[in-house]
Amino acid sequence: MAQLWGGRFTKETDRLVYNFNASISFDQKFYKQDIEGSIAHVCMLGKQGILTKDEMEAIVKTLDEIRSDVEAGRLEITDEYEDIHSFVEANLIDRLGDTGKKLHTGRSRNDQVALDMRLYTRLEVLYTDTLVKELLEKLLKLMEEHAETIMPGFTHLQKAQPITLAHHLGAYFEMFKRDRSRLHDIYVRMNYCPLGAGALAGTTYPLDRDYTADLMGFAGPTLNSMDSVSDRDYVIEFLSALSTIMMHLSRFCEEIIIWNSNEYQFVEIDDAYSTGSSIMPQKKNPDIAELVRGKTGRVYGALMSILTTMKGIPLAYNKDMQEDKELTFDAIDTVKGCLALFTGMISTMKFNTEKMSASARHGFTNATDAADYLVNHGIPFRDAHGIVGRIVLYCIDRDIAIDDMSLDELKEICPVFEEDIYDAISMESCVNRRLTIGAPGKEAMEQVIVVEKEYLAHDWQDEDK
Ligand code: ARG
Repeated sequence: MAQLWGGRFTKETDRLVYNFNASISFDQKFYKQDIEGSIAHVCMLGKQGILTKDEMEAIVKTLDEIRSDVEAGRLEITDEYEDIHSFVEANLIDRLGDTGKKLHTGRSRNDQVALDMRLYTRLEVLYTDTLVKELLEKLLKLMEEHAETIMPGFTHLQKAQPITLAHHLGAYFEMFKRDRSRLHDIYVRMNYCPLGAGALAGTTYPLDRDYTADLMGFAGPTLNSMDSVSDRDYVIEFLSALSTIMMHLSRFCEEIIIWNSNEYQFVEIDDAYSTGSSIMPQKKNPDIAELVRGKTGRVYGALMSILTTMKGIPLAYNKDMQEDKELTFDAIDTVKGCLALFTGMISTMKFNTEKMSASARHGFTNATDAADYLVNHGIPFRDAHGIVGRIVLYCIDRDIAIDDMSLDELKEICPVFEEDIYDAISMESCVNRRLTIGAPGKEAMEQVIVVEKEYLAHDWQDEDK
């Protein structure tokens, strides 16, 4: 049981208490950030004359060695230490003796852990953003390929109006774009350095907080030491953004599961992304899409958990906050895994464009356009709606589409119809006459694709980091 404290204690910690309290099993995940923060801290202590140049250099060199020893597997992080901070400091002291004992000058584990978590999360915001961007790149490619692939658009899961596959995918493109913009916002807001806040009230040493903030790429130091050690807003914001990403992925998965079903057959998920049944030889199941949909629950759970943990904590640091880590790490890894697999799944998925357009043709998705035709010939919309309703009933009785009716049959119901009705209600003209920006018409879609290309060509990670 290696601990950083004990001077005022007369008894050993109970073993169960030690285990309950320890965080090494999970906070070892940010050993790199812990060492990076310690190196910045020590460089600053040296610059300020709080440590001598020799002490500073020796500590930095040894911290570097500890980092590479862990990376190379020469030094194992074991549960003999209470947390990652104790592990690093104890190893430093083992190697450097008394000089190592100076590492923690002007620092508390409270600002240390606040920094480690922030550094770790900040990096994960970038990794997540990159994965969302890769998904967007794939989506845009598919949108370009399918600007003329007609499919039914649905409301209430009932066929509504014809759209294109590009248009449907474009809806998700917008959602994931907003997800990236949320990640960007979080990055900008969280990018302030809590190191130097001490336990809660700063320190009496002449620390240069601007310097450490700058060394670690922060926009500046945080402005209130109590807030610095107590703030986990950025974790909550990140989990909220991750939950929204999962919500989007989950909706998309739900659609893919429906499209992949025997009844729809709009898509076929690749064998490499499907699984079989142990009993039913014919089965090919969309397990990956189902798992992504299912894992959404645990990411929401992490968000609820940390919101609840934080709600009753008085200022400043309290041990409750140690609970921010496991669920956050799990949520991050879950979302990254889901994004990568989802992108792989749609990259290998086959789109049955014939089935899609046949489905659009057989479901009265052109009924609105038939009514619009009558409106263009002077019939008030409400009456036109009623007339086309009767046409639909007529077709349902005969199991045909509106386009299958002869002109005489149409005229029987409404004499206004002429030969040009067939062109007006063809799937192609239904789609391509929808030309306002944001609509599925080919020209409108092409304009949007240009905008999206431009968007992908500029990465906030290059410009605003
Ligand atoms: N393991 C702790 C955490 O995750 C580190 C900070 C400990 N600070 C303290 N005052 N006990 O929050």
